[in-house]
Amino acid sequence: MIESTFIMLKPDTLKRGLAGEIISRIERKSYKITNAKMMSLDEKILTEHYSHIVDKPFFPGLLDYMMSGPVLAMVVEGENAICGMRTIIGATNFEDAIAGTIRGDFAYCTSHNLIHGSDSLKSAQVEIKRFFG
Ligand code: PPS
Repeated sequence: MIESTFIMLKPDTLKRGLAGEIISRIERKSYKITNAKMMSLDEKILTEHYSHIVDKPFFPGLLDYMMSGPVLAMVVEGENAICGMRTIIGATNFEDAIAGTIRGDFAYCTSHNLIHGSDSLKSAQVEIKRFFG
């Protein structure tokens, strides 16, 4: 099934000059970027986006990190794109992310793990609406 998913290149991706490499991986997999914009996120949208983890001890650090620079928000479309993008992104914990995935190849800690991808059809719909209206 053709799906649209919400993908966000986080501040460390842009600071490290890895946006081109990551976009290239997305395109080489034959996914299409159907919308994209640079954004500077504030506490309001981040607290909404990460509402399921606001009580975690790492949340204040996550907020600071996500506000430390611009992000590149994207809508990515393709066959089974929600699950497929999660596969090429790799595991959340950087130690578990296998080589060949984006995090496996480039992430050096879990708090700076380069990229977000929606984890379900419902999340994708909510997140695309949140960031693109
Ligand atoms: S959880 O714990 O199962 O609800 O995790 P998840 O739904 O994957 O969301 C966790 C998001 O927080 C980011 N993050 C961290 N996770 C775990 N440990 C640490 N230290 C940490 N720091 C940040 C993680 O990357 C998830 O965000 P996204 O944007 O989805 O990658």
